[in-house]
Amino acid sequence: MEEFTSPDQLRAWVRARRDEGQRIGFVPTMGFLHEGHLSLVTAARQRGEAIVMSIFVNPLQFGPNEDLSRYPRDLERDRALAQRSGVDALFVPSVETMYPHGSETRIIPGETASRWEGAARPGHFAGVLTVVAKLFNLVVPDVVCFGQKDMQQALLIRRMLRDLDWPIDFVIVPTVREADGLALSSRNVYLKNGAREQALSLSRALAKAAECWLAGEKSASRIRSAMESVFHMFPAIGVEYIAIAEPESMQPVDTVDAWTVVAVAARVGTTRLIDNIVLGQGVR
Ligand code: PAF
Repeated sequence: MEEFTSPDQLRAWVRARRDEGQRIGFVPTMGFLHEGHLSLVTAARQRGEAIVMSIFVNPLQFGPNEDLSRYPRDLERDRALAQRSGVDALFVPSVETMYPHGSETRIIPGETASRWEGAARPGHFAGVLTVVAKLFNLVVPDVVCFGQKDMQQALLIRRMLRDLDWPIDFVIVPTVREADGLALSSRNVYLKNGAREQALSLSRALAKAAECWLAGEKSASRIRSAMESVFHMFPAIGVEYIAIAEPESMQPVDTVDAWTVVAVAARVGTTRLIDNIVLGQGVR
C-alpha cells in the first residue's frame, strides 16, 4: 500500500493506474477505522481495481462545541487495517493542505440538508460536501462508497453528484452492526460503563419500527409512538429526533412504505449517536 500526504503525488499515482486501464474506487474516511469502513473497501474492490482511502478529520464539519479535538485518532492502526483490507493508496492530507490560508469557497447544500442532522448540526453538511468535493477533485474516482449509517450525508453527496453532473458511480453500503445490534461507529469508543447498554436503544427502537411495518402498520405517527416506548425503557437516553422520511429528500411522511427511511439521533451523556434503517430492510 502506498501512502501520500501530497495531492500531487496522489494525482500522479491515480493517473498511472488509470493509464493502465484500472478503475479507481474511493473510500473517504475520518479514520479510527472499524469493520464498517472495511466493508466500504470491500464494496469498492468489487467495482474497481485501484482503491484509494483518505483519512482526514475534517474540521469544517464540526461545530464549535463538538468533538473535533477529542475525535479518536490512531493512524498506525488505521494503516495496518487499510492495508489488510486491500486499500492500494492511503491519502492522509494535513489541515493546511486541504484548507490553505485564504481558502473560503464552500459547497452549500439545499433543502435536503435543512432537517434532522442538518438542523441539529448547523453548517455540518456544508463542511462535509466541501471536503468531499475537494477529495473527489483530487482523486477523480470512478466509483465511491459511503456507509448507510450516515444516510442523510450519503443522500446529500449523491444529490451533489447529480446536481453538479459529476460522472461518478455512487454506492451506499449497508451499516455494519455488533452482534447485539449496535451500529459500528468510531464514536462508540466514547461509550464507557453503562453508556453502551443505553446506546442499544437506537437499534432496538429501529427494530421495533421494522417489526411494526412487518405487522402491517402504515402510520408514521403510530410507528413513532412504538419507537418512543422503546426509548422510555432507557432512562439515560436523550432522543434528539425520530425521522420517518422519504428516501430522496428526507421529507417527513405520514404514511410509510418499504423504502421509508427511519432515522434516529440520541445522546448518551456527552456522546451523540445516530442510526437508521430502510423500513422494508429492517435492522440487518
Ligand atoms: O463520514 C465521514 O467519515 C465523513 O463525514 C466524510 C465523508 C469522510 C467527510 O469528512
